Amino acid sequence: MTRDEPLVLGIETSCDETGVGIVRGRTLLADAVASSVEEHARFGGVVPEVASRAHLEAMVPTIERACDVAGVTPSDVDAVAVTSGPGLVGALLVGVAAAKALALGLDKPLYGVNHLASHVAVDQLEHGPLPEPCLALLVSGGHSSLLLVDDVTTGVSPVGRSIDDAAGEAFDKVARLLGLPFPGGPHIDRAARSGSSVAIDFPRGLTSSRDLERHRFDFSFSGLKTAVARWVEAREAAGEPVPLGDVAASFQEAVCDVLTRKAVDAAVDRGVEDLLIGGGVAANSRLRSLAEERAARHGVRVRVPRPGLCTDNGAMVAALGAEMVARGRAPSGLDFPADSSLPVTTVQA
Ligand code: KG4
Ligand code: ZN
Repeated sequence: MTRDEPLVLGIETSCDETGVGIVRGRTLLADAVASSVEEHARFGGVVPEVASRAHLEAMVPTIERACDVAGVTPSDVDAVAVTSGPGLVGALLVGVAAAKALALGLDKPLYGVNHLASHVAVDQLEHGPLPEPCLALLVSGGHSSLLLVDDVTTGVSPVGRSIDDAAGEAFDKVARLLGLPFPGGPHIDRAARSGSSVAIDFPRGLTSSRDLERHRFDFSFSGLKTAVARWVEAREAAGEPVPLGDVAASFQEAVCDVLTRKAVDAAVDRGVEDLLIGGGVAANSRLRSLAEERAARHGVRVRVPRPGLCTDNGAMVAALGAEMVARGRAPSGLDFPADSSLPVTTVQA
């Protein structure tokens, strides 16, 4: 880390995490996150109004905490970056307004950035410069996408996506029907360790030869979720116990099988040697090991940031902002909106 690398403060509020990260170039200095997840748990999903209110309350303390940890004051920063979309509009608005106020008050450049590209850029904080081009598999509660990344500050193109539920959403819904708490991914991951991944043959969405013609790199998880629900209902109707470990392991295997198969296929198809996995579901232990195993067979390297950097955080936004400064990209100005459906191809607002 050298003093002449840009010091960037990043703000993330697209869902239920108020994240403020501070980086110098590709070095992480602080990653403060305040999550409202417990306030949503009893509803079994994120309630937008509750999330917006929690962001409002957490924003200033989280900025202060990040500055304390990094040992900097707001006036030290060279630029501010913020998630401008996609996400929950009310939640995004809080972060965008805070970032504009900060940039205006400090007279610093402001970068409005895409949440998905930030999930890619964050890996630089752990594993060094991004290999470009690379293929990114982004899997979280809100998104499941395969992206070809030529230049993370400008050129991200969609290769595939989920046509229904996001991968994390499938984990959360299946956890719910198994009586596990929200968010369900980590609970399924844990329960799966005591079960067999081949106990139940759950469907692999969009993998039949007919589906592959139109949806080679797309995902579908809603049929899988329904299949798990039917299977559990049938057991219960027959008065038999539901083998939690087996259902969790077999469901998890079905998700990870399709995700890794299609991601590696896309990397090979596009002639790319590096596969990067990000988003909350990238914390899944089976996804990580199966991706390594399958990618290695095709000469593809896998990069997965540590779990804390995979889930939503401010450091990922700061990482992308710092890369924009380093590559001489012009700032966004102050008049960009919070855009709940910002397309993945729009890296900067
Ligand atoms: O990226 P993230 O924190 O927020 C969104 O942008 O959605 O991802 C949250 C999602 C949730 O659906 C959660 O169940 C899932 O990531 N998740 C996991 C694991 N840890 C978190 N899914 C599977 N296995 C895990 N270990
Ligand atoms: Zn995310």
